[in-house]
Amino acid sequence: MTADLPPERLLLPLDAGPFRMAMAFVSRPLDDVVEIDALYPVQMQGRRRLLDTRHGEVFAVTPGSAAARAEVLEMLANLLPSRHPAWFARDEDTLHNRLTGETFDLLHPTHDPLDVAGRLVQEDLCLIDVSGPAPVLAAAILCAPSRWRLADKIGHPLLAVHGPVPFYAERLSKAVDRFMSALRPGKLVERLNWGVFDDDALFQPQPTDRRGSRAITAENAPDRLFMRVERQTLLRLPRSGAVLFAIRVHSYALRRVLAVPGTATSLHSMIRQLPDALAEYKGLLDIRAPLLAALAKAVCRLGRPDQFVVRPAASCRCDAGDRWLLRGPRRTHAAGPDFNFRCFDSRSFGMSQALQQRSWVEPRRCRFVSSLGPIRAVMRQQVRRVRLRPG
Ligand code: HEM
Repeated sequence: MTADLPPERLLLPLDAGPFRMAMAFVSRPLDDVVEIDALYPVQMQGRRRLLDTRHGEVFAVTPGSAAARAEVLEMLANLLPSRHPAWFARDEDTLHNRLTGETFDLLHPTHDPLDVAGRLVQEDLCLIDVSGPAPVLAAAILCAPSRWRLADKIGHPLLAVHGPVPFYAERLSKAVDRFMSALRPGKLVERLNWGVFDDDALFQPQPTDRRGSRAITAENAPDRLFMRVERQTLLRLPRSGAVLFAIRVHSYALRRVLAVPGTATSLHSMIRQLPDALAEYKGLLDIRAPLLAALAKAVCRLGRPDQFVVRPAASCRCDAGDRWLLRGPRRTHAAGPDFNFRCFDSRSFGMSQALQQRSWVEPRRCRFVSSLGPIRAVMRQQVRRVRLRPG
């Protein structure tokens, strides 16, 4: 039965463009509120263990959230058998989980309904009460916290929940609060959050040490670091009016991520552009330099720079430091496949892809090429001819 489960998806929130702090929601079909994949058996075992042995750390509710907690379980008990009839079956008030062999009495659940819901899916489930002046974290089952403790946040408004997050108060808080209150039932949105961790455990509640490991080097980074991606979905529950905020945590070995063409370039750009406060918050301060070096090496390894002539765009000017602002239409041709620097800048087409495909890349618009510096140094040694000067 579990052999039928699909492999874990590789979700990479890559955006090589300039840094921005944004909600970045995309709409998804309602059924996509949770994902079930090949990691289900092992992850559900881990969740059950946490719920049974550290319940107070992974489960918390506030008075007044009972209706929303019951509604989440009801929603999942309807959705899972209809979406995945091979894995879940509903027999009136009994739900059978064929993947784990468990049976749940929905009318008289042995645990809180939100606790039962958390035993059915790989997602953590947070309930937000939007009936007051500001949205409040009213209840949650949380087995994969990314360096935060449920006990510190339960019952608090989202602004306070995000207290340690740099720029949240100034740039996001109002928009998030408005969005939560305006979300209509029947609409599902998704956003992805990312981090680079030196530990792939899902349960990481310690908010303290954000320095990152000093033992990371450019050489060992691909094997010792993990890209942690949170797939977050938001859904308004029609009866209670609460918003369900579901979080699925994926932890990918960095080496696996770097094998995807274009990824190293985008990740390099994202990490290099992170303001220091955010880099510190994400625990990247001490690993940023070796990580960037590892990414720059991966860019060059993936491509075949020795087959290319590299030159700046037809018209560009050198900006402060190693930032290049490229302007004007592309007009550089020579015998053989040339490589235009502007492809560093493309959101959808990374440098390594360009090199692999040996083709021109025409970005939709020009913007700062901030990842050029360290990559340029490596490319200088590898390309036949590099001309880097303002046009
Ligand atoms: C829906 C819109 C939301 C946006 C745009 C948003 C944005 C963010 C961002 C940018 C971070 C920093 C993550 C990082 O860079 O690694 C963060 C962290 C966090 N978010 Fe949200 N968030 C949203 C909703 C929520 C909700 C509904 C909850 C309720 C549980 C929540 C709980 C948290 C927590 C607990 C953290 C970690 C805070 C800490 O380190 O103490 N977020 N969020």
